[in-house]
Amino acid sequence: MNAQQSQANPQVSPARIRVFDTTLRDGEQSPGCSMTPPQKLVMARALADLGVDIIETGFPASSQSDREAMALIAREIREPTLAVLSRCLQSDIDISLRALEAAARPRLHVFLSTSPLHREHKLRMSRQQVLDRVVESITFARGHIDDIEFSTEDGTRTEEDFLHEVVAAAIAAGATTINIPDTVGFTTPEEIRGLFQRLISQVPGAGDVVFSAHCHNDLGLAVANTLAAIEGGARQVECTINGIGERAGNCALEEIVMALKVRNAFFEADTGVDTRRLVPTSQLLQRLIGMPVQRNKAVVGSNAFAHESGIHQHGMLRHRGTYEIMRPQDVGWPDTQMVLGRHSGRAAVEQRLRALGYYLEEAELELVFAQFKALCEQQRVVTDTDLQALMQDTRDGEGYRLASMTVSDAGQRASATVELSDPEGQRVRETAEGDGPVDALFAALAAATGVQLSLESYQVHSVGLGTDARGEANLSVRHGDTEYDGTGTSRDIIEASALAWLDVANRLLRQRRGAASEQFATA
Ligand code: KIV
Ligand code: ZN
Repeated sequence: MNAQQSQANPQVSPARIRVFDTTLRDGEQSPGCSMTPPQKLVMARALADLGVDIIETGFPASSQSDREAMALIAREIREPTLAVLSRCLQSDIDISLRALEAAARPRLHVFLSTSPLHREHKLRMSRQQVLDRVVESITFARGHIDDIEFSTEDGTRTEEDFLHEVVAAAIAAGATTINIPDTVGFTTPEEIRGLFQRLISQVPGAGDVVFSAHCHNDLGLAVANTLAAIEGGARQVECTINGIGERAGNCALEEIVMALKVRNAFFEADTGVDTRRLVPTSQLLQRLIGMPVQRNKAVVGSNAFAHESGIHQHGMLRHRGTYEIMRPQDVGWPDTQMVLGRHSGRAAVEQRLRALGYYLEEAELELVFAQFKALCEQQRVVTDTDLQALMQDTRDGEGYRLASMTVSDAGQRASATVELSDPEGQRVRETAEGDGPVDALFAALAAATGVQLSLESYQVHSVGLGTDARGEANLSVRHGDTEYDGTGTSRDIIEASALAWLDVANRLLRQRRGAASEQFATA
């Protein structure tokens, strides 16, 4: 950074990086990402809450929809600067200035291609014609507005001497921000760092303006290149939520912001973004445009804070810093997610079981863990509901198990037939009647096990979502001075009720057997 640049940014350490969000312009103009004006307003509110410094709302000369969006946004969003994009054409600038009239903090963003390829094939203009057009456009705009950003489209593929010339001319004409786009995602970190260093130290007037980086992601380098531009002296970064944008997208806002926050000591730079709003804002955009991010997307992907492998889960349980460099809550996730699956270890399974209220002795944990591993061979992820069902099976293993059941409520009284296998593995079958299906079911279970339970409470509810949803039954019984709670889960709520009843009955029977063997041992 040269002396003038540091004067323009008094907060040198850490440097304050302005976040210029172009989700609603560069992001929105890419395939599958279009938004209606009311959707753009919703997104603009979220961006303002996120704390970005500048929101680029669109390209008013290109569409009526962008003009409407700007009008809606300008009416409500007063805090971040609102920018609109415009070609270096007086007709475009006129439309843009009209669109900016309602904004509390307006910025005009004009651009013109500078690279030889674009000059020759797209613009059919010489170097001199490009220079003249830039100066003319900025001079005209400067008569109407103070905050002007100028972008050298395809800047990173422009001859460096010409780039310096254009930037110097733009500054002299009145531009206040100079943006150097890597329009086709071609540059590398080392190249762009040097480019910014040389522009800032050599171009006349560079110290009076803010330099900005705008990197596309064609080689997956957008964030790395933007960070390198900051090292080279850029003090504004252009980015989009979830990295949406032309082709492979733009620099992802959530990634650049978190890189600066997590590696603040290294970059000595930070933004004004409220990072706890990153995930909600990302999810809002995903819903608005119907484009989900990949699971392993940095910061906002659903796997970004999920740990499945046993070694990682074990490390995380000892100290979260072993495998996490940022706290999920700091970017807006509720918490780290321990996904239980084939790679999970005993420690993670035990911790999850404790969270579900099961405190297991070593031997029981051994057994449950073996069953958990067997279950992982059949399904990719083991949910809490699966674990509960597994616990139930394990604990019922020493008692009565439900083999089959039928319940009928057709006649005057309901009737139920249950077939159980008893602790010795023998089948027991009983039928009973009751005032309703559950009453009949519990009567049949009592007849088959010889256990009489007097219910204190009985509830059923649904757990899980969508096709994974299951019924859960909870019941409490009092036996002597002690209260026992039982739980059963199944896709069928009557079966869940039978399992909950057996959960309690088996516990009572186990206790009776324990008491009998204690008496026998002391006799
Ligand atoms: O990628 C680009 O060059 C742009 C400019 C119009 C700023 O989006
Ligand atoms: Zn772009």
